Amino acid sequence: MSSKDPLLDVSGLTKHFPIKGGFPIRRTVGAVQAVDGLDFSITEGESLGLVGESGCGKSTTGRLITRLLEPTAGTISYRGQDITHATRKQLAPVRSEIQMIFQDPYASLNPRQTVGKIITAPMEINDINPAGGREARVRELLETVGLNPEHYNRFPHEFSGGQRQRIGVARALALEPKLIVADEPVSALDVSIQAQVVNLLQKLQKELGIAFLFIAHDLAVVRHFSQRVAVMYLGRIVEIADREDLYGNPRHPYTRALLSAVPETTADDTPARERIRLAGDVPSPVDPPSGCRFRTRCWKATDKCASEAPPLVRVEGSREGHLTACHHPEDTRAVPAVPKARDAASGPKLGKKTTEDPGAGA
Ligand SMILES: Nc1ncnc2c1ncn2[C@@H]1O[C@H](COP(=O)(O)OP(=O)(O)O)[C@@H](O)[C@H]1O
Ligand code: SF4
Ligand SMILES: [Mg+2]
Repeated sequence: MSSKDPLLDVSGLTKHFPIKGGFPIRRTVGAVQAVDGLDFSITEGESLGLVGESGCGKSTTGRLITRLLEPTAGTISYRGQDITHATRKQLAPVRSEIQMIFQDPYASLNPRQTVGKIITAPMEINDINPAGGREARVRELLETVGLNPEHYNRFPHEFSGGQRQRIGVARALALEPKLIVADEPVSALDVSIQAQVVNLLQKLQKELGIAFLFIAHDLAVVRHFSQRVAVMYLGRIVEIADREDLYGNPRHPYTRALLSAVPETTADDTPARERIRLAGDVPSPVDPPSGCRFRTRCWKATDKCASEAPPLVRVEGSREGHLTACHHPEDTRAVPAVPKARDAASGPKLGKKTTEDPGAGA
């Protein structure tokens, strides 16, 4: 963890969606425990990756932070200010600083509006008038995201998927945000385009100092992007660590399983790993397993795992800031075939060739 004050601090964040049923009177008969007690923080300019299988609560987390959803419990503070239940009016100054980029660049842009109009909208809504005028600012933003400023009057359908996602990025940048929640921003894009969009976001993070919560369903994408990574399973964080620690010494069995599925072509400094195939499906968040939620799929589960939920703590042998929620953590360092992840720039590449070049620009 950085010693800097957090930009965003989330504590005990919970979202349970009520399930209505019954006849003739409809009442709450249960709840989807989509997000169940998350603790994490993001410092200024930092990128935190949030990873987990589909349905584990990533988008719900993103929507809670951007206050598109009301939390069931827990607190969200931004720059030390509690915004958990802030009203629209109270949120106004903060809202412009926290922006979201959505997964589907097709569904998230109004097809009847020109690109210029789409990117201008946040400035209009927030009554922001940049020095050189809004149109000049939009052209500048188009250039920033690698689009032709002359395409100001074009409509979304005239662009490819990757270009549309760039439009979404330009819109998110219009209010000079401090934090962007990017919800699987490249999942809907062609694999060949994904690296280009990730590179763009990386450039923005570095050059504009924008912090990111970067949501992804596998560990390959965030590897190039996030200094810290949190792994989620069924509404809870099971492991959180600096990138080097998480990839080099995963302590939670689920993290290890996810890592074993990372295609080695995208992780050039990852040694060969044995592929771990998880048995069964993700259980329903309506009725999650007792104790450790991962126990129905874990090859190490014991009675303790069924009766006690493991707390998210620093386990023996982990470095500071590396937290794991497991009663019987892995220790991959004990296996000589799995050396510690190194700085990608140093040392030999272990004979693995990358096909994806994160340095290849748009
Ligand atoms: N508005 C909603 N009402 C009820 N259940 C929801 C709602 N939104 C999401 N869920 C449920 O919450 C769980 C987590 O969903 P989501 O946050 O979208 O996961 P992810 O983004 O990781 O795929 C899923 O079981 C999903 O069906
Ligand atoms: S607590 Fe038990 S069931 Fe859960 S991940 Fe650890 S060993 Fe597996
Ligand atoms: Mg999602």
